[in-house]
Amino acid sequence: MKNKFIAGNWKMNNTAEDTEALLTALIPLVKDTKNRVAVCVPYTDICLARKLLKGTNIELGAQNVHWADYGAFTGEISAEMLAEKGVKCVIIGHSERRGYFGETNQTVNMRLKAALAKGFTPIVCIGESLEQRQNGETEDFLAQQIKEGFEGLTAEQAVRVVVAYEPIWAIGTGVTATKEQAQETIAFARSKFAEAFGKETAERIYFLYGGSMNEKNAKELLGMPDIDGGLIGGASLVAEKFAKIVEAF
Ligand code: PGA
Repeated sequence: MKNKFIAGNWKMNNTAEDTEALLTALIPLVKDTKNRVAVCVPYTDICLARKLLKGTNIELGAQNVHWADYGAFTGEISAEMLAEKGVKCVIIGHSERRGYFGETNQTVNMRLKAALAKGFTPIVCIGESLEQRQNGETEDFLAQQIKEGFEGLTAEQAVRVVVAYEPIWAIGTGVTATKEQAQETIAFARSKFAEAFGKETAERIYFLYGGSMNEKNAKELLGMPDIDGGLIGGASLVAEKFAKIVEAF
């Protein structure tokens, strides 16, 4: 089994004061872990987080990136701007971006290619709604997100992508997918990558589970063979909880 990758998604939370308190508490708690750790912070916290994380084992991440190098894209941010500030990984296509801000598989694909070109670790989110799960449409929907979202990548590029399976019905709801549901769905997603990029590549790709993962359920989820880590929202805002997830497996 691979070492785990645990990434915090702070979403639109944490002022400078909160960031300082949270990271100051978190750094010593996770310093000895064998696992890879990242925090994906709001843009306004990037400079401060970079300063606080310097010399630590916590990677700095952002929550989106635009496909263009620069230009008239009000409200967006470029890969160059993030790279200049020490960002190493970036979330792309989170369901909140897809649901509230019109993100599509096509824009995900363009953002993904920009992130790869800049050498970031892209954390690309996929996941179905409750209605789709209940209608038995999960696999078809994920297959399409994968086909369109990862279109045009080489196997060398695909291996650098982290895929976060986040069922929309589990995000921020306190309802976690069971470990069997998460395992089965991620194994399906991995099989789609195997079809597209070869089995060996698909085995090496990191697949995270996200959706109400917390310090209590992390161990059993992370113990499943296809779950290589977690993308953590709510529980990443509390240093002790996030650290327990990092150390859970
Ligand atoms: P949650 O969020 O852990 O609060 O459910 C996960 C995510 O949206 O990345």
